[in-house]
Amino acid sequence: MNLAKEILKSEDEIAERVRQLGRQITADHEGRELSVLGVLKGSFVFLADLIRQIRVPVRVGFLEITQSRKSEFLTEIIFSSSFQVEGTHLLVVEDILDTGITLAYLHQQLETRGPKSIRVCTFLDKPDKRKVDIHPDYVGFPVPNRHVVGYGLDYEGRFRNLPYLTYVE
Ligand code: XMP
Ligand code: MG
Repeated sequence: MNLAKEILKSEDEIAERVRQLGRQITADHEGRELSVLGVLKGSFVFLADLIRQIRVPVRVGFLEITQSRKSEFLTEIIFSSSFQVEGTHLLVVEDILDTGITLAYLHQQLETRGPKSIRVCTFLDKPDKRKVDIHPDYVGFPVPNRHVVGYGLDYEGRFRNLPYLTYVE
């Protein structure tokens, strides 16, 4: 396993796209407070940059989804700290949308907690691999069907600190 030499998205391209997303999210939430919920661990770099481009009041929380080892069924959502969902405008922030199973499950669980609205922002999207019908409200970049790393995304826990996006081969 090696890092590809090719850069998929440079630091500058990412920064520009994150500014655009911040403007769009700000325009869509004028006059509201936004509760931003990051899905750990992959989203933490993107989320840190994104919230600084959003110009409405923001609260931030994190959650982690644990996957059962015996099956592919998602079993548990753990909030990193108490985070109010009821009555809030939620923005779920993901690193990458692949089959969509994680997000579909999360969406369903969050809905039972009574938010006013739920929107989804994913940094990357692999539309070719989708298995469930889920449409994110904001997408940073569509990416090809390869294992992408950098800017928070990992391969076996490594490469999250790369400031650009590449892939492993
Ligand atoms: P779903 O449920 O949409 O899963 O299939 C999305 C999750 O799968 C992981 N994933 C990746 N992680 N590079 C990564 O670092 C990739 O190319 C990649 N593709 C999928 C990721 O954890 C995401 O939250
Ligand atoms: Mg993830």
